[in-house]
Amino acid sequence: MQKLVIRGEKRLNGEITVQGAKNSALALLAGCTLCSGEVLLKNCPALSDVFAACRILNRLGCKSRYYDNCVQVNAGAVSECAVPEDLMREMRSSIVFLGAVLGRKGQCELSYPGGCELGPRPIDMHLSALEQMGVRINEEYGVLCCECPYGLHGAKISLGFPSVGATENIMLAAALAKGETVIHNAAREPEITDLGNFLNCCGARISGHGTSTVVISGVEKLHGCEYEVMPDRIVSATFMAAAAITGGELDLRNARACDLEAVIPVFEQMGCQVFTYDARIYINAKRPLKAVRTIRTLPYPGFPTDAQAVVMAALTKAKGTSVIIENIFSSRYRHVDELVRMGADIKTEGKVAVIEGVKKLYGARVRASDLRGGAALVLAGLAAQGETEVEKVCYIDRGYDNIEKCLREVGADICRKTS
Ligand code: EPU
Repeated sequence: MQKLVIRGEKRLNGEITVQGAKNSALALLAGCTLCSGEVLLKNCPALSDVFAACRILNRLGCKSRYYDNCVQVNAGAVSECAVPEDLMREMRSSIVFLGAVLGRKGQCELSYPGGCELGPRPIDMHLSALEQMGVRINEEYGVLCCECPYGLHGAKISLGFPSVGATENIMLAAALAKGETVIHNAAREPEITDLGNFLNCCGARISGHGTSTVVISGVEKLHGCEYEVMPDRIVSATFMAAAAITGGELDLRNARACDLEAVIPVFEQMGCQVFTYDARIYINAKRPLKAVRTIRTLPYPGFPTDAQAVVMAALTKAKGTSVIIENIFSSRYRHVDELVRMGADIKTEGKVAVIEGVKKLYGARVRASDLRGGAALVLAGLAAQGETEVEKVCYIDRGYDNIEKCLREVGADICRKTS
């Protein structure tokens, strides 16, 4: 088991290059299943989830290879249409392969992703949308058997909630379907825009991606392309929070401010100075942090649920009372008890967390229980007096490409140990 050992109270200072976006890379890798030609995805972060997606591609009969932050995929022949259960378990977001495999093969078998560390994660909207496109679904012993006896066809689909995964699955299934698909109340996250742009580069006809109405006109075939994955907005937010909590100063390269319009003002309210440039964000947190107005997590362009935990970590040291309302996932405060063990003053009730800023955090042995919550514990450790050990680093490795190296290069005292 690996842990991160941090000796805190070091101000961070310097430059970090932000990795490519995990959640975009995963959808794009699923999208490769649809392409008859070779795809080269650049700026792909080296993450356990990305490697799991590559393994799924290989098990489907494609050839994928990871090297130097690039993934090369040849999906000329997709021989299998079943995603093995072990790989489904490894990465819940492998559900996005459903639309892609159906699009390419007309059938798909995968195990039900089930709940995960953030609480129940239903896929009812994914399945009902696919049914509207001609898919027949049978669930037996937790395995979903999907087929399209008359082929996939376009449909007008209204989502009850702008689900990111459902929007991606519909776009993937619709790219090669017969006719036009319209998604109303589609998710507008930047990763959806990235997926639409990637598929269009491969010859798809998609418009409106990034707005709440996405229109996909099915085409006969997709070809390969070279494409650069967008920067990871949540990793950018994490490093902004690292600067804030340590009273430091960071220059984030390959960071896109336009994707963080709900997040940057929160750091400004905390008293940080933020300057944004083309593909660069500079943050200076030399002044003591102040509490902020109520933060409500919402679908994009609202405040992202994925940035909730790392911003909360910074707020533990912000003078005054801050309130967070988590509206997206029912179980996304599992980092709170661990932050409290480090001296934070946080109370939660249902969706609401009330954070009273404290003067000091103290090092402790804590345990990550999900990706973003784990990153929040690392941030708290950077600011805490004494030594912090963060266990279960495997969660953090799902979304952060060598977080300790990035932080060490800007002055943190952090290392990985195997126990
Ligand atoms: N939901 C349903 N039914 C569905 C689909 C979703 O009830 O059929 C509910 C979910 O239970 C949840 C809400 O809708 O309460 C939002 O879920 P959504 O489908 O939008 O999320 P997702 O596609 O499962 C992606 C990201 C998450 C991120 C959310 C919200 C990927 C691989 N995952 O998940 O990222 O939190 O969107 O922005 O893209 C992370 O990176 O740490 C992470 C969890």
